[in-house]
Order: sequence, then C-alpha cells, then structure tokens
Amino acid sequence: MFKVRKAVIPVAGFGTRFLPATKSTPKEMLPIVDKPIIQFIVEEAVNSGIETIIFITGRHKRAIEDYFDYTPELEFTLKKGGKEEYVEKIREISNLADFVYVRQKEQLGLGHAILCAESVIGNEPFAVLLGDELIINDEKPALKQLIDVFDKFSKSVIGTMSVDREDVYKYGIVDGMEVEENIKLVKYLVEKPSPQEAPSTDAIAGRYILTHKVFDMLKKTPLGKGGELQLTDALQRLREIEAIYSTELEGKRYDTGNKYGYLEAILEIAMDREDTAEFVKNLIKKISTEYSIK
Ligand code: G1P
Repeated sequence: MFKVRKAVIPVAGFGTRFLPATKSTPKEMLPIVDKPIIQFIVEEAVNSGIETIIFITGRHKRAIEDYFDYTPELEFTLKKGGKEEYVEKIREISNLADFVYVRQKEQLGLGHAILCAESVIGNEPFAVLLGDELIINDEKPALKQLIDVFDKFSKSVIGTMSVDREDVYKYGIVDGMEVEENIKLVKYLVEKPSPQEAPSTDAIAGRYILTHKVFDMLKKTPLGKGGELQLTDALQRLREIEAIYSTELEGKRYDTGNKYGYLEAILEIAMDREDTAEFVKNLIKKISTEYSIK
C-alpha cells in the first residue's frame, strides 16, 4: 500500500488582494509575527509525515526558493556576532524536507498548477495544501487528519469545513453521504456555486489527498469558472471512476488570503505565543480604552 510522502503546494498566484505589498514579495512570504505563512503550511505537511514538498512556482517567487535554501553568508555574520541560536533556527527551516520547484509558466488555474506536478509525483498518492488557508491544530495537523482517512480507504480525501450559506460562492462545495463518523462518500462537487445552487455548506478547505488518477481527469477537464482549469471539476470526473471521501477538518482556520483573515491570524497566533501574549493583551486593552471599544 502506498504511503503519502509528497505534497504539492501551489504558490504561483499574484496575490492581488495584498497589493502593493505583493508587488515584489510573494504573498506566501508575508509574516504572521515573525514566521512567513508558507512556513506554517510546510510545517503542517512535515508534521503530518510528508517528506518531499513540491512547490508550483512562477516568476516573482524566487524569495520562496531562497527561504528554504541554506544562507551561508547570513550564518557567517550571525556566528561572528555571537548569535548562534539564530543560526540553528534558520538551518532547521532548510532541513524541514526535500524541496522541489516546478515552474507554472502560465496562470491557468489551480487544476493546471496541480497538473504541473505530474512528472514529479508519478503514480503515488499525494497531498495538496493551499497556502491561503492556515489551519491551526497543535494536536493533530489538518493534513494528518486526511492522511488517516486515506490510510483506511486508499482513495482521494478532501478536507472540508462548514461555512455560512451566504459564503459558499467563495469555495468548492462538496455533497456527500456519511459512511462513518465524520467521513462522507462524495456524491457531487461544484466550484463556487451561488447560495441557491449549493448542494451543501461543506466547503473545500484547501487540503486534499489525491490519487494519481486525477492527472488523467485534469487533462480531460475543460476550462471552468473564471476561464480556469478547476481542480474541483476534475474531482467531479474522478468521482465517476473511483470513490472520493471527505472529512470535516478540526482546527482553527484563517483565510490569510485577505487582509481581515490575515489580521485575525496575526492577533490570535500572537496571543498563543509565550513571547507575545502579554504584549498583545495589553495592546488590546490600550486600544479598547483609546478608541472607547466596549
Ligand atoms: C480554491 C479552490 C476551492 C477551495 C478554495 C479553498 O479556490 O478552487 O475549491 O474551496 O481554494 O481556499 P481559490 O480560493 O483559489 O479561488
């Protein structure tokens, strides 16, 4: 039986919702306090047992490659300045996993980005993590929750989270039939439906385990919503030839792809960190008084 060892992380998007910051910096490199968003995603994958990370990257994304590489000049300077503890911290980042970079030459959608990984994945099952969704669960990472379901059925598994009906148009929506506690057999998937069309409010939360058969489906799928090759459309086809399961993910989810979700993530994650909790608490008190927030 195959083990899930590889994860694909698409990072070629422009990050237009964060302009001008993303004019020359990848949105994935924006920090939550002092750690870039992309490191949270990579750590989730590694803590779930992933050994190889395949970034689907594009122009203007070189900073991500540099981030996961060694930085001998910086290490030399830090050592000279007696800051050994930082040297170890930055080395650990490069040693988290094996990193592979594949360029997506054109922005043709998430489905196209995944298809770019075909030759690196071969015929193994693999994970997909989308960088806009930060899912924090210190006990069991979101991806590990999916891998546990995969290990039972050896079929594709989609991580979902329930959303308000008025928000379904932002997500891929999955309808299924419960076959075990918190495991559904997927019956139907639709990308960004209107609230009236949506068959359920189970939204795809940017975490997937996919079998390699998805590549053949992607090749057959016509362009969908937004004129892009949609992964959700290819999964609807895959469902016709083999079972797909979904499971509701447990964890705190932040949509760091927009400024409100990003701010929420910074404040709450800083509240959970020993070195920043007290500061943030006092800051919130101060702001509440100054702005008369009750
Ligand atoms: C993508 C997927 C969508 C999923 C969402 C989760 O959409 O196409 O099915 O629900 O990610 O973040 P995007 O947010 O890239 O438009």
